[in-house]
Amino acid sequence: MRLPPPGVPYVAARTVYAVFERTGAGARAMGRLDGKVAIITGAARGTGEATARLFAREGARVVVSDVLDQAGERVAQSIGQAACFAHLDVTSEDDWRAAATMAVDRFGGLDVLVNNAGVLLMAAIQDTSASDFERVVRVNQMGTFLGIKAVIEPMKRAGRGSIVNISSVDGLTAKNGLVAYASSKWGVRGITRVAALELGRFGIRVNAVCPEAGSPHMIAPYVPAGVDIEKATAHSQPNLAPQRDRATSEKILDIARGSRNGRNPLAVFFSRLEDELGYRPRAEREKRLATEAKI
Ligand SMILES: NC(=O)c1ccc[n+]([C@@H]2O[C@H](COP(=O)([O-])OP(=O)(O)OC[C@H]3O[C@@H](n4cnc5c(N)ncnc54)[C@H](O)[C@@H]3O)[C@@H](O)[C@H]2O)c1
Repeated sequence: MRLPPPGVPYVAARTVYAVFERTGAGARAMGRLDGKVAIITGAARGTGEATARLFAREGARVVVSDVLDQAGERVAQSIGQAACFAHLDVTSEDDWRAAATMAVDRFGGLDVLVNNAGVLLMAAIQDTSASDFERVVRVNQMGTFLGIKAVIEPMKRAGRGSIVNISSVDGLTAKNGLVAYASSKWGVRGITRVAALELGRFGIRVNAVCPEAGSPHMIAPYVPAGVDIEKATAHSQPNLAPQRDRATSEKILDIARGSRNGRNPLAVFFSRLEDELGYRPRAEREKRLATEAKI
């Protein structure tokens, strides 16, 4: 099976970074993320790995965490002094406690949590077992909840913090075959809004990113042998469709520029940012909210 070049996770990582930067935390730091300490979950590959590398490049120190120990160790080692690896199963409260402690002991604090770890299940409702449904919700939704719980105290003590939860375009819309995944990603947006309301008073910002694409690894098990993953996913990603014939490198450049100045409309083809970040024209956003309200 042919995997596309690692461009799309980078695009998603840029968006995570843009949320962090545009909501204030990055703008205050002298070297953008100098002095910041971040825990990134699911960072052994894909969007999490790209986010960890990008954060480290911008000066942050990063706890790279995942259940894939060897791959995660490799990512942390290749980043160097600015990173360490923590085995963190996001469904385990013990693992969360250990990772938060590691961030504070090793790097002296905790400023950012990126709740990125996730699993996908593609199956019709009739073919989705109760245990499969529960597994997806436990990782994607409960893992996000447990992560937020684990970082509240250190962030409260510091009087500031930024939490970025990775939802999905499937947390904004509906597709057949995604009952467990879409429920969990809608749930992530719900958690995000409640947490933003509860934690704002402590100086902790909470935002969600709803990417339309990410790592090919996540989709690979569902793509038949011999089918090009990028072409296959383009058909299930209507907002990406106009981009189908453009080189990945061009798309990445567009999104990077869009993320920087917040005006490039191509940005919305890839990622939908919540919390009024300004990428989406007001009329379009209101139309989407009205559609959501009818569901
Ligand atoms: N791939 C896509 O098309 C796509 C689209 C929209 C949103 N997303 C979201 O982006 C995020 C990153 O996914 P990706 O695209 O990089 O896919 P990926 O499968 O490459 O990465 C997911 C990572 O999460 C880790 N993980 C799984 N279960 C875990 C657990 N219990 N505890 C800790 N880590 C665990 C995996 O080991 C993996 O490293 C996910 O939340 C995903 O739902 C992906």
